[in-house]
Amino acid sequence: MSDQPQFQLDGQPIPFQPGDTIMQAAHRAGVYIPHLCFHPQFRPHGSCRLCVVNMQGKTVSACTQPASIDLEVHSETTELRQSRLRLIQLLFAEGNHFCPSCETSGNCQLQALAYDLGMTHYHYDPFYPTRIPDGSHPELFIDRDRCIQCDLCGRASEQADHKAIYLLAGRGQHTHVAFRSDDGELGSTQAQAEDRASHVCPVGCILPKSGNYPDIAGARLYDQIPIHAQGNHRRDDGGTHDD
Ligand code: FES
Repeated sequence: MSDQPQFQLDGQPIPFQPGDTIMQAAHRAGVYIPHLCFHPQFRPHGSCRLCVVNMQGKTVSACTQPASIDLEVHSETTELRQSRLRLIQLLFAEGNHFCPSCETSGNCQLQALAYDLGMTHYHYDPFYPTRIPDGSHPELFIDRDRCIQCDLCGRASEQADHKAIYLLAGRGQHTHVAFRSDDGELGSTQAQAEDRASHVCPVGCILPKSGNYPDIAGARLYDQIPIHAQGNHRRDDGGTHDD
């Protein structure tokens, strides 16, 4: 038997290493906790709240809560599934997520979670935002109305690309993805199509201007296997193991 410390997640022992969060340990063990802003390669952001779990009577974000020995954590409860569904419905209402016409359909974590959680309708009145898109870059297009404010592009740009190009600007419903350049346009930055930040978006906000349809509809990542069964696979690493 391993000496590694463990906690219980939905009755299953999860080994962890010092410094791990609940999410990191679960992810390493191949156990899925729903998430949108978590990425195993970047520091946690703790903003989407999809990963909220029940830890001994308290609700905590799995991506920021340190793991500790003998914790009892529950993720797959009826109440948590319902609150996750409401969060997803809120995100659908807050942005313009018209899946059938989106280049990312089938590869989108928001859409995949909506399927997973059994979303059948909006629930909240849609806002229909009209944030200004950015088409100034020769290879990348930014559809701000699809941004879910996870800041993965900002973290990838800073921590992997060492460029710190992307950020979230504004407040409340005016929050939007922005770029550090004199004129505020992506085309005036050092962004490149091969940057990590260009591929990490979990939805369809950051898009290459060409090559968006390598796989036909029905053959894309989450068309094949539901997101909860993907384990450590993500679209941004081509569906390969990511840690
Ligand atoms: Fe934990 Fe987003 S994954 S708050």
